[in-house]
Order: sequence, then structure tokens, then C-alpha cells
Amino acid sequence: MELFIKQLNPHSCRTYLIGREGGGEVILIDPVLDHFLEYADMLKAGHLQLTHVVDSHTHADHISGAAALKDFTECSYVMYKDAPARCVDFSVDDGFEWKLFDRVQVRVLSTPGHTQDSISLVFPEWILTGDTLFLDDGGAGRDDLPGGDPGAHWESLKRLSGLPEHLIVYPAHDYRNRKPSSLGQQKRTNPHMKARSKEEFIRYLEDLRLGPADWMKDVLKANYACARDPKAAWIPVDAAACEVKGTLDPGVNEMQVTSIPPRVLKQKMKSSSPPVLLDVREKHELAGNLGHIDGIVHIPIGSLVERIPEMENIKDREIVVVCRSGARAHTAAQILSKAGIPNVSVLSGGMIAWNTAR
Ligand SMILES: [Fe+2]
Repeated sequence: MELFIKQLNPHSCRTYLIGREGGGEVILIDPVLDHFLEYADMLKAGHLQLTHVVDSHTHADHISGAAALKDFTECSYVMYKDAPARCVDFSVDDGFEWKLFDRVQVRVLSTPGHTQDSISLVFPEWILTGDTLFLDDGGAGRDDLPGGDPGAHWESLKRLSGLPEHLIVYPAHDYRNRKPSSLGQQKRTNPHMKARSKEEFIRYLEDLRLGPADWMKDVLKANYACARDPKAAWIPVDAAACEVKGTLDPGVNEMQVTSIPPRVLKQKMKSSSPPVLLDVREKHELAGNLGHIDGIVHIPIGSLVERIPEMENIKDREIVVVCRSGARAHTAAQILSKAGIPNVSVLSGGMIAWNTAR
């Protein structure tokens, strides 16, 4: 039976639609509440019957769309047996053999580490790894949130590394627009899959020195309560929250990024050779409250890597990267520097600071 898998969200949270070619039944993995209306429209327009929604773990960076989809379609909500979300009605255990669409064997693996309730789903040709394993230099989800356990994560990755190498890895996040590739490829390129002892792995994670994420506790609570309101918890726009910064590669993380205060940039803009301003926010943000600076080059951070060739005619000029608060711009500047673009800096404080600076 031919199955299809389609990634739905435009941003770093990945939601997968899986179904049979030519069949009406589908499932959704890791739906995001913010995109509920798009999912609902898609199901209606395609005459698709949503039978299950699955959360690969309790998410801390976005509110799950599972509860709202369950109301809308009466589908079942699938999570690991220890998951705290109140509206789960199909709990699965490690080793559970799920017969999907009557015929497809899907094996559930308990893969704790990022959270206690993390699962991976092994399809005949794919593995959906949640935040247990991302792609290539993206590493994996962070282990310092409530329920996180680096030692358990090491065990889970060891387990994944014993699976057939041809399986294509579909993670719950990607922050750099990487394309899904095989488990064998991950074993060669993903820093989390590097052969190390458990102690070395724990030390490697500790050395990443991740920033605080207190706001995530409210998101967790909203997911425990099966929230249907996207405003049930505040989520910062700039957060690449589940990302393990530092797994990009050692050189990139140590790269120093120069920041320019808004006042200095305003003066530079009046000079005879003003810098190129590269705004890496999403399109809808440019039209939002913070507005945008005239004459910007616009490339959202999610497509920056693949669009670097478009910067051929500006790459030797001074480039100042702009975002909402400075966080995304910092990451973008690292990506550009790694790509050999020589003169890149960041507007410190982003558009928030720009709008209040004199
Ligand atoms: Fe996560």
C-alpha cells in the first residue's frame, strides 16, 4: 500500500499529514493550534477523514492542535501512556504495534530524554522522531526542560541507531529548512549521534549552555489542560525554543556576531554608503505593529540557507540583519558568516529597539 507523508506548517514546528494514496483516511502528527483553521480547511476541501492525531511528546514551545482537532472531527488523540494531557484517549506503550489504515504496521518506541513521554513512530520506510532526533547539524531537542533527562536521551539515541539505516527521519522541528534524510545519514552527520559514552554525552549537553525558557512552563500547562485557545500561553515570536543551539557545529557557535545599536545604524543609513538591511522575519510581521525599514531585503530565516545564492550581488557589502528582537538575526548572521559572507552584523534589539530609538 502506498503511503504519503506531507509536511504542513511553513515554520520550524513540523506537522505531518499521513495517509494512503487514493484513500480518504489520514492522521496528523504534532499539529499546532495556531494552524488549526488551515488543517480544518484542508480536511474539508480534500474530503479527508482524520482518524487520529498524535503528539510525539508534550510540547513546551507551542500549543498542540490535538484537542481542537478532536472536537472538530471526533478523531482519537494518541500519546504515550504517561503523557499528562487530559484529553488523550488512545495511550500507547513501548513496542505497541499499531495497525494503521487496517494494514500498515507502525511500531511505537518510547524514546525519552527531551521529555519523559517522547515517542518515535517507525513506519516501513520512515521514522518520525519527534524531538528525540532532528536532522544533521540540528542535533536534537533540548533536555533541560521539565521531564528532560540527558541520560535517557542517550539511551534512546542508542536505540534509534540500531534501527534500519534506510529509514527516512522526519523530526518535529527543523529551524534551518533541512530536508529529511536517512537514519544512516544522521549517524554520519548528526552531532547527537556521534559515538560517545553516556557520561560524555551528558557533558556535551551541559557544555551547550542553553538559555532560560521559563515561559515554556505555561505552554506545558496549557497542553496538560488540552487548551483550545491559542492565547492560553504566551509564546515569544523569536523562539527557536526546542533547538539545541550549539549543535549547528562548533565553529558556528563560537562565531562572534557584531551588534549595531539602532542609533548607530540610523547614522549609517544617512551616509554615502549605507549598509544593506536584511530582514529575516516572516512576511506577516513586516506588515505588523513593528513595521519595517524602507529598502530592506526580505528573506525569512526559515529559507535563508537555500536563498543565500540570491545574495550574490550584495554579499560583499556591509549587511545588517534585522528581526523582531535580535534573536533570529543573530542566528541568521551566524549562518551567513558560515557561508563566507564577510561583513555581517545584527541590529541589536531588533525592530523593538529601532522603533524606540531616537
Ligand atoms: Fe519539544
